[in-house]
Amino acid sequence: MSYEERLQNVTVLGAAGKMGSGILLLTAVEMADLMLKPENKSKTFVLNAVDVSKEGLAGLMKYLRTQVLKVAEKKTVPLRKAYADRKDIIENSEIINQYIEDVVRIVHPSTRMEAAYDSTLVFEAINENKDLKIKILSQIDKNNPHKPWFFTNTSSVPINIIDDGVGLDGRVLGFHFYNPPAVQKLVELIVTNQTSKDITEFAKVYAKNLKKVVVPSNDVAGFIGNGHFMRDALHAIHEVEKLSDEMPFEQAVYMINRVSQEYLVRPMGIFQLIDYVGIDVVRFIMQVMNPYMQDEELHSPLLDKMISLNIKGGQHSDGSQKDGFLKYEKGKPVGIYSPEKKEYIAIEDFKAQCDEKLGALPDSVVAWKSVVRMKNKDEVLKNYFNELNVLNALGADLATKYGKRSKEIGKKLVSDNVALNEEDVNTVLMTGFFHAYGPINNYFN
Ligand code: 3HC
Repeated sequence: MSYEERLQNVTVLGAAGKMGSGILLLTAVEMADLMLKPENKSKTFVLNAVDVSKEGLAGLMKYLRTQVLKVAEKKTVPLRKAYADRKDIIENSEIINQYIEDVVRIVHPSTRMEAAYDSTLVFEAINENKDLKIKILSQIDKNNPHKPWFFTNTSSVPINIIDDGVGLDGRVLGFHFYNPPAVQKLVELIVTNQTSKDITEFAKVYAKNLKKVVVPSNDVAGFIGNGHFMRDALHAIHEVEKLSDEMPFEQAVYMINRVSQEYLVRPMGIFQLIDYVGIDVVRFIMQVMNPYMQDEELHSPLLDKMISLNIKGGQHSDGSQKDGFLKYEKGKPVGIYSPEKKEYIAIEDFKAQCDEKLGALPDSVVAWKSVVRMKNKDEVLKNYFNELNVLNALGADLATKYGKRSKEIGKKLVSDNVALNEEDVNTVLMTGFFHAYGPINNYFN
């Protein structure tokens, strides 16, 4: 079966979720582009968007339209060529609207699993529950006569467990996007000893067409990205617990969040990132990874406590951020949750006091947004971190310790044989988490 034939009938499971909606969008665009090729005009392309939530699917279709508009605006020249035979479409706005309609036309939203029974490729982006994944993939595989290929977006379950659990004999691989899939360039590719060459080759071509950077990871729970993220989060939580001996919890969270963002020049503070991914999702990933860990415990009683208090983060169906460790107004953090008082405390009530304790940043400080695309960013960052590392202030000390821990985690991913080399670890953090620099660097020695 050719690349195009494989993509003529595709299903995304969990399509209304955060990851599923991104995967659906990228796949819909790729399929529409294939459909618009002159040789494919008579062929049918079907992309089933399957999800348990009807409301979620309605939100997905809105998201799809807004995002395809952005995609179309960036490629009006090739689109004009693709619609060259359409004499009724002249203006750019008409071309863009036609493209949106063509992409949307491919997508068939459904709450029924049966939609996947005719697909040759199935993306799985459902809850991080191994048994549920195995049950659903088994049901599809049993009823689908095409021996479909399965791409799982699991963030933590080893692929061989899914392969063996469903009995796929190598018709599955890990194709792990990062949030938001439309923005982050990374796809972690995880194959097992059984994964067939054909499916791996297809995955590489598909990733390339989506303009993604592929990093292979060995089939170890959590892979490279979450292997780093979960340990990074546990370091932050540990630091908060230590600081909480001397100050209220919410102030400790504020400080570590600020240090992990501004001082370390990252796009988000670590607690904002945990909220963004979902406190429940982060805890779940740790739970899935933990049984496979030999010499460490990936578990946080603080995450358990937040969830028991129903503080979970994640996103509303319109994509806006839900409150978690932090409270958000128009996407910006304005408060921090106190589990003791069971309420959010306004950041402005303690910001000045905390900032004074952290101490000033070096004058050479750079914002993530400006440095991330600089050509000479290594020089700029080296200069900044050199100054930061010798500053005698709490914030600088916390940041240096944090940077060193992040580097240690990165190196362990290589020595544990999760990543093939240090460069892969750095690429994962830079393209999956949008970091301006990799954790294995010369800034923290
Ligand atoms: N879909 C499509 N586009 C999106 C989007 C989404 N869900 N969210 C943001 N964007 C776009 C915006 O529209 C904007 O596009 P534009 O430049 O064309 O206007 C662009 O991204 C930048 O967004 P903003 O200006 O609103 O905000 P930022 O510059 O702060 O970027 C961010 C937002 C890209 C989310 C950035 O803060 C970031 O990369 N944060 C880190 C996220 C991260 O670490 N992700 C990995 C999580 S771990 C994971 O996914 C693994 C899983 O297994 C748990």
